[in-house]
Amino acid sequence: MNIKNIKSEFPIFKQKINGKNLIYLDSANSSQKPKTVINEISSFYETEFSNVGRSVHTLAVKATNRFEETRDVVRSYINAKHREEIIFTKGATEAINLVAHSYGEKFIKSGDEIILTELEHHSNYVPWHYLREKKGAVIKFAPVDINGEINVDEFKKLITNKTKIIAFTHISNVTGTIMPVKKITDLAKSKNIPVLIDGTQGAQHLSIDIQDLDCDFYAFSCHKMYGPNGLGILYVKKKWIDELPPYQGGGGMISEVKKDNITYADSPTKFEAGTMQTAEVVAFAKSIKFLKDLGIKNIENHESDVLEYGLEQLRKNNSVKIIGNPKERASIISFTMKGIHPHDIATILDDEGVAIRAGHHCCQILHDKLGIPASARASIGLYNNKEDIDVLCEAINKCKKVFEV
Ligand code: ALA
Repeated sequence: MNIKNIKSEFPIFKQKINGKNLIYLDSANSSQKPKTVINEISSFYETEFSNVGRSVHTLAVKATNRFEETRDVVRSYINAKHREEIIFTKGATEAINLVAHSYGEKFIKSGDEIILTELEHHSNYVPWHYLREKKGAVIKFAPVDINGEINVDEFKKLITNKTKIIAFTHISNVTGTIMPVKKITDLAKSKNIPVLIDGTQGAQHLSIDIQDLDCDFYAFSCHKMYGPNGLGILYVKKKWIDELPPYQGGGGMISEVKKDNITYADSPTKFEAGTMQTAEVVAFAKSIKFLKDLGIKNIENHESDVLEYGLEQLRKNNSVKIIGNPKERASIISFTMKGIHPHDIATILDDEGVAIRAGHHCCQILHDKLGIPASARASIGLYNNKEDIDVLCEAINKCKKVFEV
């Protein structure tokens, strides 16, 4: 497999959109799936499907083994120490909700402080807001500067003896800022404060070594990693897995159920209530194989070339204003155009087969800070190339003509 002609591995690119080649620049929202992943889902349903962790018949045992194999694959991919630290969820959103609920339930009381940043998307803000509503927790935001960066000193200023958790994104889904995760984690460790990293935009672009990051929780989305929808992963450091109460109750997560008492299974089962996403989990192992076969470093370099080219080309267009200028940036270019609403940009681009996202990208706090209601966003995946950027730039010029700006 060669990253230069990798589009051929993705069946979606065979079709035309509005009569044009599909230029998919919305991977920060959700990525397209390679045929190995699609084939695995259909072959699993055709020949291997069963519920997992319950029955003893042949199919059930095989399906359970395949499901658990993916856990090992994920563990090794992020270099976690223990397989029970890997929990399957329905998405990164559920993963963060799990931590906010279970950790918050036990360890956060009225007046305790949670530190977030102004870069967070709603999935890493709303779950913590519930703790503010229900428990009277206080949320503090590390401020973002004009470049879209957050200085580690800002966290230092916010930490007090009431700080109970620091939760922040690995990569901003608006500015593409790669956060100084190690520095923040080291700072938090020195104060004995647990850290959650929202890896929603991280794990598909960068290689993750969870032991090196040394965070307590890391949440990420499989559907943004060229994997199936409806699946996310939560890494929970071993020291927490017995400490945290279960998130949801139901079948599978119990040890014993009596009329007057219930005991729970060990992690990870304790956090995986109800019927799990079987085919999706099994097929996610293929997504990781796909990433590994290409090489995450090659992906990083390729995306970084396309990003640099995109920034360079868009900067030449004086109707385009790029949001943020972080020193460390990954795969995301959000922008505005004077006199054109981002939704109009996205609609005109769509006519040219170019798929971008427009709106607040689930990041209203950041857009408020920037004083804009919305922006347009081109986000780069491993299948994008410089030709895609050229088509994007031509389509942007078409917007200028239509709106005469
Ligand atoms: N899926 C959201 C995005 O597009 C959060 O960035």
